[in-house]
Amino acid sequence: MKDTYIFAIESSCDETSASIIKNGSVEIATVVLSQMDIHARYGGVVPEIASRHHIENITMVLEEVLEKANMTMDEIDAIAVTYGPGLIGSLLIGVQAAKTLAYIYNKPLVPVHHIAGHIYANNLVKPMEFPLIALVISGGHTELIYMKEDYSFEKIGGTLDDAVGEAYDKVARVLDLPYPGGPKIDALALEGKDTYPLPLPLNDDSFDFSFSGIKSAVINLVHNEMQRGNTIRTADLATSFQERVIEILTKKTMHALEKYHVKHLIIAGGVSANKGIRNRFQELCAEKNIELTIPEIKYCTDNAAMIGAAGYYAYKLGRKEDLDLNAKATDILK
Ligand code: KG4
Ligand code: ZN
Repeated sequence: MKDTYIFAIESSCDETSASIIKNGSVEIATVVLSQMDIHARYGGVVPEIASRHHIENITMVLEEVLEKANMTMDEIDAIAVTYGPGLIGSLLIGVQAAKTLAYIYNKPLVPVHHIAGHIYANNLVKPMEFPLIALVISGGHTELIYMKEDYSFEKIGGTLDDAVGEAYDKVARVLDLPYPGGPKIDALALEGKDTYPLPLPLNDDSFDFSFSGIKSAVINLVHNEMQRGNTIRTADLATSFQERVIEILTKKTMHALEKYHVKHLIIAGGVSANKGIRNRFQELCAEKNIELTIPEIKYCTDNAAMIGAAGYYAYKLGRKEDLDLNAKATDILK
């Protein structure tokens, strides 16, 4: 069978990325240009600044990936692009670049939902087996998704307020840790002890999550201790916060696997880079004989390789769009 090459573009937040993926699972080349250092100065991503940097970087990133792959556009079968959800100004740059390439080189244009991309990052590790449950944990999402086959997404639960990554970043900020706070809390949590009493958020039988309560509990605790002139044991607070997050994520996910009679779990999104979360799921899945896949760290945070992997399956299903494709800040995964 002839190989299929997808040229993929991702620009939904603060990473400008392009990738070439063969047959949905083999990474030929990827370029990721992160703006993290620029936004760290402001304590979070500034949308206007992000889109300006995407404009400056996109051409360079597109050229570099072709060079790295030692390929030309003639060898590409389709252009896949993240059309949403994300920051609208950032998304527009990637979508416009993809449309331009599709027009100039006369290639099919395949829109990819950002979360489908995060999920399909797992296909770069090993072929996904169905049915499966996907736990998507990122800066903008916390969702449990049931997939009975390729490119079929049934959301069975999600956050009612903050995403888990957002809670990590906000907790980090009150602890004076630089943006993005997730990895810093993760590192500190390995050193500390679980000594601060924090609530277990939305501890019920649903598959929904809520992280604003625990985030506010940490913020209030820090302010109260400061007012009393007490010092915060930062590592202990990071451990206590992370432990509660792990507890609720594992509880609800393991429950979903049982209810849906699924033996395969995949974890996706930026927060799946978290060592504490990875370790606990690995232990639990080994104990309960569940097959677990988590992408390599470089595929956890935003990148175009995952969009190329998802884009391949979308392309095979004929999910093409014409040149009036528009970026969408919000959209349901379907
Ligand atoms: O998937 P991603 O790159 O962007 C979105 O689609 O949102 O995820 C970024 C999020 C940030 O909130 C960041 O703090 C979090 O992932 N993150 C982590 C870790 N590494 C990245 N959170 C907890 N522990 C980590 N090690
Ligand atoms: Zn993401």
